[in-house]
Amino acid sequence: MLESSCAGGGILTDRKHRLGVLASGRGSNLQAIIDACADGRLDAVVAVVISDNEDAFALSRAKDAGIRAEFIPWVKGKRTDWEAKAVEILNEEGCELVCLAGYMRIAGSTLLNAFKNRVLNIHPALLPSFPGLHAQEQAFDWGVKISGCTVHFVTDDLDMGPIILQKAVQVREDDTAESLADRILEQEHKAYPEAIGLALSGRTELTGRKVKVK
Ligand code: GRF
Repeated sequence: MLESSCAGGGILTDRKHRLGVLASGRGSNLQAIIDACADGRLDAVVAVVISDNEDAFALSRAKDAGIRAEFIPWVKGKRTDWEAKAVEILNEEGCELVCLAGYMRIAGSTLLNAFKNRVLNIHPALLPSFPGLHAQEQAFDWGVKISGCTVHFVTDDLDMGPIILQKAVQVREDDTAESLADRILEQEHKAYPEAIGLALSGRTELTGRKVKVK
């Protein structure tokens, strides 16, 4: 359904949009999405949270909010099986969009083909600079003066999918990698709900690797 939204058609529905979230850890971005749904900034609900980590705090956040929380054990070399199970659950819940929020696995073709142009990710740097792990530290160590965060559609090219929106964060003289990461995280919590809202709104148009916002 989002494909028509990307083409400018919008998603016509009289019910709230249903989101699936994949998370491996503390889930602060998940919480920001849940809060945006609760206070009406997003006309959506988080229908299910799926994790590859049984102890992920994201799962507790989901349960606290009354959201279905699913742990799928990760078996090395069995990405396709993990994703097939996740896709089954996401479809069962009628999810239109899948949000990766601190999901520490690479998204493979089983997930990406099932949700073509409908998987989003948030990254704590201004892509295409500093992809991969520990992006805030990479940027800090490089000595950049501005960093930030990026929300993008996920493709099979890690952290390189079409960019929906970015927020910049100035690096201060007295910053440490940690203090910079904290300020970037504050912006992530604003950026992710905004980007989800755009993706659901029908105001985005995907042309090649460019996301135009009408
Ligand atoms: C965030 O910094 C996000 O950008 C990155 O992983 C971290 C997840 O944090 N992809 P949280 O679990 O959402 O608190």
